[in-house]
Amino acid sequence: MYNTTFICDQETDCILDLNGKIAVISGGSSGIGFGTAKLLSLKGAVSVILDIDEKRGKKAVLDITALGGKAEFVACDVTRDSDCRLAIESIADTHGTIDILFNNAGVIRRKTVENLEENEWDMVVDVTLKGAYLLSKYTVPVMAKTGGGSIINTGSGWGLKGGEKAVAYCAAKGGIVNMTRAMAIDHGPQGIRVNSVSPGDIDTPLLHDEAKQLGQDDESFMEEAADRPLRRVGTPKDIALAVLFFASPMSNWVTGTNLTVDGGGLA
Ligand SMILES: NC(=O)c1ccc[n+]([C@@H]2O[C@H](COP(=O)([O-])OP(=O)(O)OC[C@H]3O[C@@H](n4cnc5c(N)ncnc54)[C@H](O)[C@@H]3O)[C@@H](O)[C@H]2O)c1
Repeated sequence: MYNTTFICDQETDCILDLNGKIAVISGGSSGIGFGTAKLLSLKGAVSVILDIDEKRGKKAVLDITALGGKAEFVACDVTRDSDCRLAIESIADTHGTIDILFNNAGVIRRKTVENLEENEWDMVVDVTLKGAYLLSKYTVPVMAKTGGGSIINTGSGWGLKGGEKAVAYCAAKGGIVNMTRAMAIDHGPQGIRVNSVSPGDIDTPLLHDEAKQLGQDDESFMEEAADRPLRRVGTPKDIALAVLFFASPMSNWVTGTNLTVDGGGLA
């Protein structure tokens, strides 16, 4: 079996070092967001978790702290302008800067355009797409003032191709991938890099909830999801490693790009 152990020499070790960096992670109390908050903290960053779920957010902080990382929680509904503004202002006041923003909160409703209610469309698009706009709107000026930063948006394979019964989600994720390019053009001159990571099926509560929404047996749904060239579903850490690449100087001259991390699902 191919050895997937993370190997570093001294230079790459240092290039992935996030000591002293402030990383803001939306949807950071669960799944991909939590896995990423954990990894960025272990690389030295202070991970500031923004989430609508306060109880889980506070537990995430305790878990990261127990591992020796630095983390904080700020309650934030990313669909609300005032929540996003206040969260980013308070983080900038406390830490003086924001170096990394991971726009990751997202929700899915597995319905066709015929069956999807207007309020469900609004909810999916507001959390998954508008949330990234709002947090970026308030973070960009902070980053620009302190010399730049890195914004990473969570796309999806379904932002690059269509998917069955997920019309609002596909619209939102397609928006994320192209918004990433537009933001990279606008904010490159301010020293801000903007990239997206597009996961394939990752073993998180969201994926299991999809099986439930479709009325499918969880085990067979997960087996189907694993049917891809690398023969397994992904883990939050698979995505966290890609986010670390974009968050660190390892990707210093990379902006406006999308990295698909899906075990070859779209190949
Ligand atoms: N799991 C997958 O297979 C998969 C595949 C492709 C893309 N993604 C994307 O990855 C991202 C993370 O998803 P996940 O799989 O880790 O799911 P998850 O359900 O484990 O985590 C999503 C997080 O977002 C938070 N959230 C929901 N609404 C919010 C709001 N209004 N304000 C703030 N936070 C809110 C939730 O509380 C939760 O902590 C999403 O954007 C999702 O679309 C997931």
